[in-house]
Amino acid sequence: MQLTSQDIDAVCDLVLDLCGVCLDESKAYLIESRLDEVVKRTDCESYAALVRKARRTSDLQLKQEIVDAITTQETLFFRDNSPFEALRNKAFPELFDAKEKTPFPKRIRIWSAACSTGQEPYSIAMTLFDLIPDIDSWDIQILATDISDSAIAKASRGRYAEHEVVRGLPANQLNRYFVREGSEWQVSDHIRSLVHFRRFNLHDSFLALGQFDVIFCRNVAIYFTPEAQEQLFLRIADAMTPHSYLFVGSSESLNRLGDNFQPQHHCRSVFYQPNSTRPASV
Ligand SMILES: C[S@@+](CC[C@H](N)C(=O)[O-])C[C@H]1O[C@@H](n2cnc3c(N)ncnc32)[C@H](O)[C@@H]1O
Repeated sequence: MQLTSQDIDAVCDLVLDLCGVCLDESKAYLIESRLDEVVKRTDCESYAALVRKARRTSDLQLKQEIVDAITTQETLFFRDNSPFEALRNKAFPELFDAKEKTPFPKRIRIWSAACSTGQEPYSIAMTLFDLIPDIDSWDIQILATDISDSAIAKASRGRYAEHEVVRGLPANQLNRYFVREGSEWQVSDHIRSLVHFRRFNLHDSFLALGQFDVIFCRNVAIYFTPEAQEQLFLRIADAMTPHSYLFVGSSESLNRLGDNFQPQHHCRSVFYQPNSTRPASV
């Protein structure tokens, strides 16, 4: 189906409203390839008609289908590796020490803030299991959220095809933390029990989520406008405990947020800690 410039404008506005993802004419091919099937299946005569239908309906399913189709869910286990090395060798050991001095020395809260199909939070859980032999005596919660229902459904199942586990997952982790089921691999129950998945839009308020010791918010802000990126990271700073750690994607940087975050370097990785003197965001 032919995509007109009015179609592109209408789709871009809708997508921005639904999930904050910022598209423009340069993404015409992406819009066409990802929404063509939804247009046909819903019997709409154009992309603009699909947008009108989605805006009119109180049925959230069509809106969710559009979000699922348009968002990029590319991910893999231990993506980029160096953040997980920094987590293993620096952030977690420092955090364990700092926790000793708090009223809840064995409580750790972690947020994987755009977890896609689950590889990121499961990689964090495996790193914790490697480090803490008596993990049952700890109170650890990994909250993993994403705006895409289909991504969250797959993440919760924790079942991956061969080509997904060979990407990034070392053989010893695969053997230790997965069980083969036919042609697929199932994340073992003790890893899954650490991770709680839920649908969550990063443009909504974080107040009900509480505070976190470690936040992974990687490869999602790049899809937002520069203003929305800034707001996102300022709101994330408010959700961080004083000694916490924020990991962003390899092409993302918080340098323009000035005094709000303190960048820390470990080997080839950069992570950020909230600056204690920063003003609270509104
Ligand atoms: C490229 S994946 C990144 C996955 C993982 N963090 C990683 O780095 O491998 C981007 C994810 O962001 C999610 N996303 C896009 N907009 C979002 C929003 N407004 N709120 C929450 N998640 C969003 C998408 O559904 C997608 O799963």
